[in-house]
Amino acid sequence: MVDEGKSANQDARVLQLYEELLEIEQRLIPTGLHVLGRPSVANEKADLLKMIAAFDRPEFGARALANTVADGLGLTKTENRDPEQREQIDRIIDAAIRELLENGIDSATELVSREAGVSAVQVRPTFVLLADISKSLETNQELDAVLRALRGEFIEPGPGADIVQNPHILPTGRNTHAINPYSVPSTVAFARGECVANSLLNRYREENGRFPQSMALVLWGLDNIKTQGEGVAQALWLLGVRPVSDALNRITGVEPIPLETLGRPRIDVVMTVSGIFRDLFSPTVQLLDKAVRLVASLDEPLELNFVRKHVLEQIASDDCDLDQAAIRVFSNAPGNYGTNVNFMVMDSQWDREETLGDLFVTRKCFAYGRDSKGKAIEGEEAQSAMELALSRVEATYQNIDTFEIGLTDVDHYFEYLGGVSKAVEKRAKSRPAIYLSDSLSRDVKIRSLEETVRLESRAKTLNPKWYEGMLKHGFRGVAEIENHVSNTFGWSATADAVDDWIYSEVANTFLFDETMLERLRDLNPHSAHSLVRRLLEANGRGYWDAEESALDKLREISRSLEDQLEGVA
Ligand code: BEZ
Ligand code: MG
Repeated sequence: MVDEGKSANQDARVLQLYEELLEIEQRLIPTGLHVLGRPSVANEKADLLKMIAAFDRPEFGARALANTVADGLGLTKTENRDPEQREQIDRIIDAAIRELLENGIDSATELVSREAGVSAVQVRPTFVLLADISKSLETNQELDAVLRALRGEFIEPGPGADIVQNPHILPTGRNTHAINPYSVPSTVAFARGECVANSLLNRYREENGRFPQSMALVLWGLDNIKTQGEGVAQALWLLGVRPVSDALNRITGVEPIPLETLGRPRIDVVMTVSGIFRDLFSPTVQLLDKAVRLVASLDEPLELNFVRKHVLEQIASDDCDLDQAAIRVFSNAPGNYGTNVNFMVMDSQWDREETLGDLFVTRKCFAYGRDSKGKAIEGEEAQSAMELALSRVEATYQNIDTFEIGLTDVDHYFEYLGGVSKAVEKRAKSRPAIYLSDSLSRDVKIRSLEETVRLESRAKTLNPKWYEGMLKHGFRGVAEIENHVSNTFGWSATADAVDDWIYSEVANTFLFDETMLERLRDLNPHSAHSLVRRLLEANGRGYWDAEESALDKLREISRSLEDQLEGVA
């Protein structure tokens, strides 16, 4: 009996390991930088088409290819498929997409009909769509558009979105920033928002045995353009309200979702929005503020309405009015952008981590919305309101909506999500649970920050497919690798979310492998030097418990790079 239990346990662990490997393997990984005007090559195109085919496309009459194939094979629903079944489906999809690129729609349709027993009528629309996208990927007007922009001429607008979510963004080379803020959140975004909000709350409840009373969300402008407001939708769902359109079909109002329908408490939400969001989504900022005030005014039990609970508590204890107690939408002062937390980290200009959270608050403590008399609040300094709101936060969250830019590709994720989490840690006297979601895949996936850092490190920074793609770009490629390591370091500084093995593997992969070190040295000794110094800083600040022998090697490499840069070697 004992042995059986042990073996079942081992089987479960092997299966979990397999799932994790599959997750990394099937992730769409950018294999190099984009070169303006250059269309994607065949293997990149195949990966992209596969990802696009993973979603239902009702507007094109096309179903997710994996589901069509699985139905044809008589297999079970996604969550119950075993690894062999998934591999079988994957093999058929890979072969079909290859067939499509080499021999066209008819051949791909025939292949799936033959291999999966699916009727041609069922699967053909998917290949018609993919063929169309494939053709649009071959041409673009990027260079022409840049030249026209430089001449001050008109650039035709196109929908701004991620290609996987909206293939209509093709051809590229248009002005992709087009958005009507009054259409946000779209119906689809609102539907997806429910799924994410529920998964997020369930994950927190699994780990903590109850719902969080208060959460801090980061909202960005470009992301909400790309997803037609998924981030906005998630905030509305957490509050438990739905958007309402006015007579001109503009989304300008909200109405409460009854508690019986919601089936859970309304969560208090502190929204830290980027300067770009504030500028592009002014009506949405008003909508979010209106949602908070509406929820605060509902006559509901306090244990089911945490916004009301906190607002009433604050009015009672602080002797302030509703307008003060209900501020939840914060951004920079008018005309200002960014948190500067990234600059402070990158320049190593800090001693204590809490300084990073304090800087976040100093930069972001400006309130936006409308007071109870209807007067617009447009960036009024509200530091004490923000500090109080953050002191109640138990979980922080940001949505990642594109495979192109992830947690360690840019310094903005750690400046925002890391910054707000560090600010919460001091004010709530406890580190919040930090989550991200991945609304790229069909199934919504909530991950902790630590899980996401691990996944990004394995899928990108430490993945030969990724770094060799970068190194093809020479000087810039090495700079990108160094950026990834520094951005990873940003997650140590703001959230202590990086495992030791990640830094050890960075050292092994890029610096302790002599051939690799030579390549980096030749291509870009400046970035190679910064990389070594960042690793030494990670150790110096207590984020990486490294062997003394490894540190000696790093110091030696640092010295020799310095000599090279100074022309001594
Ligand atoms: C934004 O789209 O709001 C954004 C873009 C880059 C950095 C920070 C925010
Ligand atoms: Mg550590």
